[in-house]
Amino acid sequence: MRNTLLRNKELPTFFGEVQQKGERLLANFTQNQNELPTLFYQHPNGQLWQGNSIEWLKSLDSESVDLIFADPPYNIKKADWDTFESQEEYIKFSMQWIEQAAKVLKPTGTLYICGFSEILADLKHPATKYFKGCRWIIWNYKNKANLGSDWGRSHESILHFRKTKNFTFNIDEIRIPYSEHTLKYPSHPQAETSQYGNGKNGNHLWEPNQFGAKPKDVIEIPQDIIEVPTTCNGMHEKTPHPTQKPEELLRKIILASSNIGDIVLDPFCGSGTTPVCAEQLQRKWMSCDLSPEYLDWAVHRLDIVENWSIEKWIKYDFENQKRRNSIR
Ligand SMILES: C[S@@+](CC[C@H](N)C(=O)[O-])C[C@H]1O[C@@H](n2cnc3c(N)ncnc32)[C@H](O)[C@@H]1O
Repeated sequence: MRNTLLRNKELPTFFGEVQQKGERLLANFTQNQNELPTLFYQHPNGQLWQGNSIEWLKSLDSESVDLIFADPPYNIKKADWDTFESQEEYIKFSMQWIEQAAKVLKPTGTLYICGFSEILADLKHPATKYFKGCRWIIWNYKNKANLGSDWGRSHESILHFRKTKNFTFNIDEIRIPYSEHTLKYPSHPQAETSQYGNGKNGNHLWEPNQFGAKPKDVIEIPQDIIEVPTTCNGMHEKTPHPTQKPEELLRKIILASSNIGDIVLDPFCGSGTTPVCAEQLQRKWMSCDLSPEYLDWAVHRLDIVENWSIEKWIKYDFENQKRRNSIR
C-alpha cells in the first residue's frame, strides 16, 4: 500500500520555465575554518550559510531564534568532519557551539541535540549550565540490519534543552493514536491509586482526548504508536549524505516546539532536512554547513518543497505510519 499523497521529484515549471524559489550565490571552496561564513542561498523564508557554524552562531543576534535542531558530528569517524583527536577535543568543540546556541535562543526557545546515548552522556552535564531544564528523548528505528557481533543498534538519543520554564511545546500537534487496548475502554473512572483517583483531584472520569494520546519520550514503536525509520535508499527524500535524518522525525520536533512563522535554526545543515521541514511547516529557517556539496543538495530539496497545508503533512506522516504498521 503506497502513500496516496505524491511528492515532487522535479523542479516546478511555469510555461516551460523552471521556477526557483531562492537565489544561489557563489560557493567558497577554499574557506578557512576561522573565516566568517558566507551566504550560500537566499530564499524568501530563509538562508543557508557556508562555513564554520561556531563563527556563524557568534555573528547572530542574542535571543533571536525560536527553535534550534542540531544534528552535530558524533565523533564516530563517519567522515572527515566527524573525526576529532580525542573525546576531550570533541567535548570542547561541542561546548563552544552549545554556548553560542544558548545565546541566540529566545527565552521561550529550545535546543534539540542528536547523538548516540553514550556520546550525549558526555555533553549533558556541561551543557546544563546554559539551560533551565532538559528531557532525554529516544528515537527508535527498526529498519537497520545488525551485521556485527555486538548489540544491534536500534535507537539514538535526542536531548531537549529548554532555555526557561516558559518554553514552547504544542502537545496537541504531536499526539499519537491511542492503543487498541485503551480504545476498548474509552471512558472509565480512575483507580483509587491513580493521581486522579482520590485526594486533591477527587474522583475523575477518564475520557480519551479527541486528538489522541500524549506522545511518549520514546519516539518509536510498533502497532499504532509513532515509529520513524532511518533514511534509506529508495526513500523520496534520500540524498547521498552519510548521516541524513528522516523528515518525519524533524516534522514532529518542529510541530512540537515552534509555531507558524517562528525561526528554526540548524547549525549542521547537511542535506537540509531541518530547513526543508521548516519550509514545509510554514516556519522561517536558517542553517549552516562546511560543505558546499551538501548545501547544494539542500537547495535542490528546498526548491522542490510541495505547497501543502500543515494538515496535509500530518496526514502524510500518519498514512506512512499506518502503512508500516500494516506490513509488520
Ligand atoms: C550529522 S550531519 C547533519 C545531517 C543533517 N541533519 C541531514 O539530515 O542531512 C553533520 C553536518 O555538520 C557539518 N559540520 C561538521 N562540522 C561543522 C562545523 N564546524 N561547522 C559547520 N558544519 C559542520 C558536516 O558537514 C555535516 O554535514
